[in-house]
Amino acid sequence: MSVTMVIGAQWGDEAKGKVVDLLSQDADITARFNGGDNAGHTVINSYGTFKLRLTPNGFSNPKTTCIIGPGVVVNLATLICEIQMIKDAGIDLTDRLWVSPRCHVVMPYHPMVEAIYELAKGSASTGTTGRGMGPVYADKVSYNGIRLVDMQDRTNFHEKIQVQLQVKNALFKAFSLEPLEVQPVMEEKLEQYAQVQGMVRESFGLVQKALNENANILLEGAQGTLLDNTWGTYPYCTASTVVSGGVTPGLGISPRWIQRVIGVTKAYTTRVGRGPMPTELKDAAGQVLQFEGKEFGTVTGRPRRCGWFDADLVAFTAKLNGFTEIALTKLDVLDTLPKIKIGVGYHPRGEKGDLAHYWEGDARWLEGYEPEYIEMDGWLQPTRDVRQFRELPPQAQAYVHRIEELVETPVSIVSVGPERHATIMV
Ligand code: GDP
Ligand code: IMO
Ligand code: MG
Repeated sequence: MSVTMVIGAQWGDEAKGKVVDLLSQDADITARFNGGDNAGHTVINSYGTFKLRLTPNGFSNPKTTCIIGPGVVVNLATLICEIQMIKDAGIDLTDRLWVSPRCHVVMPYHPMVEAIYELAKGSASTGTTGRGMGPVYADKVSYNGIRLVDMQDRTNFHEKIQVQLQVKNALFKAFSLEPLEVQPVMEEKLEQYAQVQGMVRESFGLVQKALNENANILLEGAQGTLLDNTWGTYPYCTASTVVSGGVTPGLGISPRWIQRVIGVTKAYTTRVGRGPMPTELKDAAGQVLQFEGKEFGTVTGRPRRCGWFDADLVAFTAKLNGFTEIALTKLDVLDTLPKIKIGVGYHPRGEKGDLAHYWEGDARWLEGYEPEYIEMDGWLQPTRDVRQFRELPPQAQAYVHRIEELVETPVSIVSVGPERHATIMV
């Protein structure tokens, strides 16, 4: 029996999609348990290139059941588009996709509420993906959410929308936005719901049976741990629980079943949106990372901020999640750099002394600190075609080993290109 989690170790976009696609070849079940369509997970395999936001990345293995667990918030329009996109590639998910009726639904007013807050905050805005994540999770925890199960009864659904619009429309009017009407909102959502209704079924029994039958279960985290609502750089974070423990509320699996927790981390650091990023580069090296890594947001197309690998952050996320191993991705992006730095902790700006760590403060605290670096030699040769660890240039091997030491976790996968096959199993 094997329950494997794939968790982002940084600020998202670490290439979780690639790692899940790779591992899903042996998975009986692949499941998402957090986030919503703010995620964008890229997969390049024999079926083509996919940028999936809700559907678990086991879809290309016909033997894998795909589950969207109750911790995920569902934008029905996105889900319908994805199912169609996958169908166009020759894979019909109708019998293989399970979407929990407990999932909360992103309603048209959620991105509107989000936009009001983001504008009101001005330069202190979070820089969200604009998918309504904050408001939909806020409605969930304040008992104002609408779940897929609520859409099964027209009268119940109507009443719930009516209550929500009573409150939300007052806000829209105050901010000179057009109020929404109950009927069209309801009809649009019911029309979308009808298209996926057959897949809306609770997966708890299926998952528990699979656990007892020693099946391989692969859990696909969304976002990255530094965006976690509690442990991330709040308020420059996301709305859901990103860490490994989120699988209990998010899918209904007890922590005692989890055996492998794979932390996915880039060989450097990126971040989209605002908030502190101690190792951010604004020089030529940063431009190399951005250009070579094609660092543009999968969902919004925004350029990602780029910087050196921050070992203090990843050592923290390794402890928090209990990483049993690391998947180190995009090593090839560093191929042309003569010198490579690694952040190993922080000291107050302009001062030296004992190193401070991420977990000691909050996002504002971190703004006042700068990283301490170690420097290593680059390898200045292409790694994209390497498939054996021992065939990597010695400087690249040393870089990987240094990361293992600093993060106190072994590296089990090294990725040297976006395609499934561009991978070194260590
Ligand atoms: P996710 O959200 O964690 O699944 O990551 P994204 O898909 O948003 O971003 C990762 C990007 O890097 C995608 O464009 C991938 O195709 C690409 N990618 C994945 N692994 C590698 C790699 O090892 N090298 C390079 N150069 N690109 C990679
Ligand atoms: P994947 O799963 C990178 C960031 C946004 C913003 C903050 C809050 O592809 O790794 P939100 O829309 O969630 O309210 O935005 O979180 N963010 C991500 N950054 N990858 C993601 O997902 C992200 N999901 C959210 O850019 O800074
Ligand atoms: Mg992404």
